[in-house]
Amino acid sequence: MTGLEQFAAPGAQWWRSAVIYQIYPRSFADSTGSGVGDLPGITSRLAALEELGVDAIWLSPFMTSPQKDAGYDVADYRDVDPLFGTLDDFDAMLAEAHARGIRVIVDLVPNHSSDRHPWFQQALAAGPGSPERARYIFRDGRGENGDLPPNNWESVFGGGMWERVVEADGTPGQWYLHIFDVTQPDFDWTNPEVRAEFRSVLRFWLDRGVDGFRVDVAHGMIKTDGLPDYMPPLEADSMGGGEADVPYWGQDGVHDIYRDWHRVLAEYDGDRALCGEAWLPTLKQTALWVRPDEMHQTFNFPYMMTAWDAASIRDVIRESLAEFGAVGAPSTWVLSNHDVVRHATRLAVTVENPQGDGLGPLSAGKPDPAVGLSRARAATAVMLALPGSSYLYQGEELGLPEAMEIPDDLRQDPTWFRSQGERYGRDGCRVPIPWEADAPAYGFNDTGASWLPQPEEWARFARDAETADAASTLHLYRTLLRLRRERALGVGSLVWEDRGEEAIAFRRGDLHVVANLGAEPIELGDVTFLTQSEPFEGTALPTDTAAWFIID
Ligand code: GLC
Repeated sequence: MTGLEQFAAPGAQWWRSAVIYQIYPRSFADSTGSGVGDLPGITSRLAALEELGVDAIWLSPFMTSPQKDAGYDVADYRDVDPLFGTLDDFDAMLAEAHARGIRVIVDLVPNHSSDRHPWFQQALAAGPGSPERARYIFRDGRGENGDLPPNNWESVFGGGMWERVVEADGTPGQWYLHIFDVTQPDFDWTNPEVRAEFRSVLRFWLDRGVDGFRVDVAHGMIKTDGLPDYMPPLEADSMGGGEADVPYWGQDGVHDIYRDWHRVLAEYDGDRALCGEAWLPTLKQTALWVRPDEMHQTFNFPYMMTAWDAASIRDVIRESLAEFGAVGAPSTWVLSNHDVVRHATRLAVTVENPQGDGLGPLSAGKPDPAVGLSRARAATAVMLALPGSSYLYQGEELGLPEAMEIPDDLRQDPTWFRSQGERYGRDGCRVPIPWEADAPAYGFNDTGASWLPQPEEWARFARDAETADAASTLHLYRTLLRLRRERALGVGSLVWEDRGEEAIAFRRGDLHVVANLGAEPIELGDVTFLTQSEPFEGTALPTDTAAWFIID
């Protein structure tokens, strides 16, 4: 059997155990030399992902977009932005991925469109009370002349969540809601026309053969009736993960939408899946999103955001397995993505750094890079042994750290601009990844151009350099993924073991997994190692290290 046939049996539910690799197309591989990655670039590098051993890729948005939020501002949901190529390039990439046995998930951005989307342009032209405006959230302002925003909500990227428009006759007019940038107006999901449009968008990509969707800001699509005032606590994560009862996050009305989409996907053969971006306060609430007739998966952000502390990590694993298990869904696991500080840095930051703040030249608490990398490797060795589906973010298999020294004038994230430089935002995890140590732009392209500057010390993280080094992070990932596949670790359950307060320790059949988060080594006894997150002599597991082994 070749390609997808090997796991395409109906009902196989590949997404329950898949390792899904996130490609951030702008920064993966650039075939034109423009400095921005593209679809032919991805196609040309798929062999590396097959070698790595992932089951699927998820592509961040490549649809037509003015790129005000790196493509999460879509102007045409049914076409490819020329920056990334054409629909033919997409089809070629999909065919090549499938031929290599790699499934493909695309990003769906339903909470908001770009302000350049024809619907928003029509809404501006049509005026208050029109059906065109009813596709978005337009309201009159407060105050005598309507010059105060309709409520006090603050944008995730900083500043207010409302923008006032100028009406066709030149007078100051209504306000529209934008959870994110001013160029990203929110759709009104109570409007049946919006629902019908997105069913059709889903079908457009399903007809082309995609295996599923990652659903952007799935927790934001429904807002509390009446849009009551709300102010988040000062130290909140920007996406709202820790707060309960936020009028624009996690409203019950979202479930109808997921059920509707579930039915659309079920019309197609071949086991297609929906994975929701859900920043919610509890795992219990998150699990409601993946009941049997809703989404298939949701990201496990509580796991991602847990600090490097053994008891906390054990707790979040236990709770994840219990809560997702209670609704019959697999748990997912994730340590990095394009919105958070890379885990090779994050796990060793020494002061609070809320999601969305990022790290830059003047940040406090920057980590020791060696400590960060050891923790990241150990954390990954734990994650890839857990039952369920795991997400990897491009570059983590190279041990890439956050790029913390990007000069202010080269920053791109709207967070940086809307917060007037108070929050660095997410550029540091989005820098184009290195392929070859000695090539221009480290092989990202052949001109040396790069939309964000690549740090000088990244040659040592280049894929060719790591391929040649048996102790590299890349070799560790390949080994973990190979063993995970051979031993079918993605399915089944785990048995906890007691190796002390500072350890994460469990068993999967005869495979034992232990990570040491404490200051003292942990003696493992007579064992045969299958892999170590960091090579060490003897049988005492050092600090910030994990091992997979069999007991002799
Ligand atoms: C999601 C994306 C993020 C984007 C935001 C607005 O959180 O992951 O990158 O800025 O949605 O679309």
